Amino acid sequence: MIYLDNSATSWPKPDDVLAAVDDALRTCGNPGRGAHGPALDAGRVLLRLRTLAAELFGASPERVVLTTSATHALNLAIAGLLDPGDHAVTTDLEHNSVLRPLYAARARGTELTIVASERGVVSPDAVAAALRPETRLVALTHASNLLGTVQPVAEIAAVCAERGVTLVVDAAQTVGLLPLDLRSLPGTAVACGGHKGLLGPAGTGLLVLGEGIRPRPLEVGGTGEDSFSETMPASLPEALEAGTPNVPGFAGLAAALRIILDAGAAGRPSDHWAEAMIAARRLRTGLAELGCWVAPDVDESAWGVPVVSGVVRGRSGAVLDCAEVADALWEHAEIAVRAGFHCAPLAHRRSGTAETGMVRFSPGHLTTDDDIDAAIEGVRAIHEAS
Ligand code: ALA
Repeated sequence: MIYLDNSATSWPKPDDVLAAVDDALRTCGNPGRGAHGPALDAGRVLLRLRTLAAELFGASPERVVLTTSATHALNLAIAGLLDPGDHAVTTDLEHNSVLRPLYAARARGTELTIVASERGVVSPDAVAAALRPETRLVALTHASNLLGTVQPVAEIAAVCAERGVTLVVDAAQTVGLLPLDLRSLPGTAVACGGHKGLLGPAGTGLLVLGEGIRPRPLEVGGTGEDSFSETMPASLPEALEAGTPNVPGFAGLAAALRIILDAGAAGRPSDHWAEAMIAARRLRTGLAELGCWVAPDVDESAWGVPVVSGVVRGRSGAVLDCAEVADALWEHAEIAVRAGFHCAPLAHRRSGTAETGMVRFSPGHLTTDDDIDAAIEGVRAIHEAS
């Protein structure tokens, strides 16, 4: 198989991640729910994960909240910070994991402004112009999961901080590849999954809260402490973590974070980013040379994560059905890609592909030149056969 769907979930997972999951399943108890060895082992797993994530994001370990996914983390931040009467700002590049929690908040009485991107980029000036005195939150993707364009997060964080507005960054497509350091992003919270660029298992995610950011709990329940209290504990991270956590998944994520930090992901684009971008650039160039590949018009200087999306024209000039292109790549060449709308409806509208969708290739750091050449040849063959 040639796996070019790392933006959906990364594959293969490192052996250390597999071993850590296996070990946790064999040895760990329920963290914070006992003082015996297995319970303490589980607690150590979570502490290790928080410590490594804190190093990656320049945060305090107790402000690393463990979640089941980026979507869970975004729901926690968005629903937990917004009240009826507040105003929120987002962009037309967002994934439904940002849009749908915001639409739900709007249904509860929050006002919502959606800022338009230009050639895949949201300008800090456009965000500044959308802010109002009652704006509570700006939610922004670090990079578009459809277009691969990286957003000017530092400038937008500065705009938000100046106006006392919390910035929630969806780092689903950049974590482990491009850095986000909360020490230089005041008033910012970062949400991400553990199973994409971080190389951990699905079913894991993180919400990392900058100083002073305190969402309400979304879920309430057992935490292993304060059992007679009718409300969640006041302390972080327990206040935002109800129920037995996914210890095997978090053990795998901790092992993955060690690898990610060793690849230089804290403070600079990681080695994994550099390797995946070599593959993505080769693919982008090769597809463009075919003449039948139509890519969205984006600001080239902003294209900065290994995501290559577009449509394929057949010999008649008509756009081929994206799902059929993806199916043909899989059936004839065992190339795994994602086709369709990628849960990013507004980005498709903006790109003029709301009717057709796009085919998305997302190489990883292990993708080889031969993999890329096979993908280009696969698209050429599909065009020729149309
Ligand atoms: N959000 C993931 C993607 O973009 C699943 O494919």
